[in-house]
Amino acid sequence: MSNTSAQKLDSIQNAAQTAFKAASSSKDLYDLKVQFLGKSGSLTEIMKEMASMSKEEKPLFGKKVNEVKQLLEAVYSEAEEALKKNEISAKMAAEELDLTLPGFARSKGSQHPVNMVIEEIFGIMSRLGYSIRTGPLIEKDYYNFEALNIPADHPARDMQDTFFIDKTHVLRTHTSPIQIHSLETEALPLRVIGTGPVFRCDSDISHLPNFHQIEALCVDEKVSMADLKGTISFFVREYFGAGLKTRFRPSFFPFTEPSAEVDCSCPICKGKGCSLCKHTGWIEIGGCGLVNPKVFHAAKIEYPKYQGFAFGFGIERMAIIKYGIEDIRLFPENDVRFLRQFVK
Ligand code: PHE
Repeated sequence: MSNTSAQKLDSIQNAAQTAFKAASSSKDLYDLKVQFLGKSGSLTEIMKEMASMSKEEKPLFGKKVNEVKQLLEAVYSEAEEALKKNEISAKMAAEELDLTLPGFARSKGSQHPVNMVIEEIFGIMSRLGYSIRTGPLIEKDYYNFEALNIPADHPARDMQDTFFIDKTHVLRTHTSPIQIHSLETEALPLRVIGTGPVFRCDSDISHLPNFHQIEALCVDEKVSMADLKGTISFFVREYFGAGLKTRFRPSFFPFTEPSAEVDCSCPICKGKGCSLCKHTGWIEIGGCGLVNPKVFHAAKIEYPKYQGFAFGFGIERMAIIKYGIEDIRLFPENDVRFLRQFVK
């Protein structure tokens, strides 16, 4: 056996053994296996040297190479097993679940103040025999304007900046079209609350393009301004608290005649004067009046056999006045810090 081949074999064995044991990952280890034991690895290479050996030397060298191969395969398997074990425990440590960690607390939801006001107002009015109606948000021009005595090209249309859908449809600018739907379809006498979102092309610290209204309509025989004032005064006391005064200022709405603007004494300062009531002691809360006979005529209701009153409020405004909220834009923001303040 040539001395140099045997020495080379020894050094391959030593190098491979040391390298296998020092490998730091199963991938590195596998690459080393290819390098030493693979098809064109060091052991295969050294076998080629057998070609120049004598007949006696060949089997001896061949046997030696096989022994080295078996030994290296055993060292490889051992190293591989150790590395895999380490890798699995490292992976398990990294993915460990700490079951003692506190969970994520789910915060309690709360009702939106707009819905709270609707429910509260409806609660008050239902005690007077009113039931609730909603109606479509996209209205025919007829219901939003014409039937409410606001003809096309009439200056009264400018009172409400309108979003038009097409020539004959609008996003309703108020809840008053619900009055017409009820008058057309329901039996008399009638006591209904119309409520929901309304839309106007308007946006600043005290106006939203999408806000909410609530309005009452009462139709019966012999309904007078005294019934209207009595109902609103009752409502104001129930909603804002006992001891508040109500006053009516002459105004104009095409669908009521006579019409009035309703003020109540400021619930925040009780009429003494504060920034909310601009130091007047009074706060405007909505509009009202007796149903205009032209509205009855459009809805084909016999007048003066039947008469009626209506009044309407902005819901955000009712909440602003009751809770002293400074910016109407807080309502659609849905910031939970704002909403949580109303949790009962
Ligand atoms: N619809 C009126 C508005 O939006 C309010 C109103 C309702 C006035 C009912 C009188 C009667 O301004």
